[in-house]
Amino acid sequence: LRAEASLAGEAGDPGAGVALLERLAGDHPDLLFARGRLLLQCGEPEAAAGPLQSLAERDPSAIAGWAHLDLCWRLLGDDRHQWLSGQPGLHGARDIGLDAAELARLGELLRGLHRTRAHPIGQSLRGGTQTRGRLFWRHEPELRRLREAIVASLDDHVRELPAKDERHPLLRHREAQLALGGSWSVRLLSNGFHVSHIHPEGILSSACYVSVPENLGDAERRPGWLEIGRPPPDIGAGLGPLAQVEPKPGRLALFPSYMFHGTRPFDEGERLTVAFDVLAR
Ligand SMILES: [Fe+2]
Repeated sequence: LRAEASLAGEAGDPGAGVALLERLAGDHPDLLFARGRLLLQCGEPEAAAGPLQSLAERDPSAIAGWAHLDLCWRLLGDDRHQWLSGQPGLHGARDIGLDAAELARLGELLRGLHRTRAHPIGQSLRGGTQTRGRLFWRHEPELRRLREAIVASLDDHVRELPAKDERHPLLRHREAQLALGGSWSVRLLSNGFHVSHIHPEGILSSACYVSVPENLGDAERRPGWLEIGRPPPDIGAGLGPLAQVEPKPGRLALFPSYMFHGTRPFDEGERLTVAFDVLAR
């Protein structure tokens, strides 16, 4: 019944989904999440916040629950949205310090992987390929160098995070040992883009630019830019991004895994990135 309710939501009839869920008793985490998401889809953020808040209290690592609770708070003008995703330092972009020659060699290596070890369409990818397997488990010197530079930048980012906060889904890990989880590369070609999504497996997520088309600097249209905080179109309609990052070779964007993110389409060329999730040990 829960699966059926979620399907109703995906089919554009969240009201039918909510009605189905009313027949289910209990407060299993999956049920709390399904209720919250469907109510948000129905345009009822106040009602949606209840089950999502119970979920976050029960399981502080429920990333997808926090992502949707954040949207409720944002739509309701609740200060907790600011606490959850508006504090300075939670997301940011920095240069990882690879020079042009290093980035060029890395780009060549990644293009080879996209030819031989890639699959065409991920759930949130349009017009591109994504590499298979863990990129940072490979031994090529270009990737070892990248990993090293990324770990150093990640340390800098963590050092500049707001203070430890036991109730906050990211800041409670402020002093934990961090580890890199999944890592992969995405190659988007002309008109490609990444629809808004979150990474339920991580605590911090990322986009690191290796090679981008030259004409992305248009500050009006912002082609190919990363948008952080814009929800998918079926929930939180009308909400825009909270931040936008201009892709530049060697730039690393880091943001909490519960923040929705996606890319704006661009006209032509190639946008080659590496991404990874950060886990707390
Ligand atoms: Fe992503």
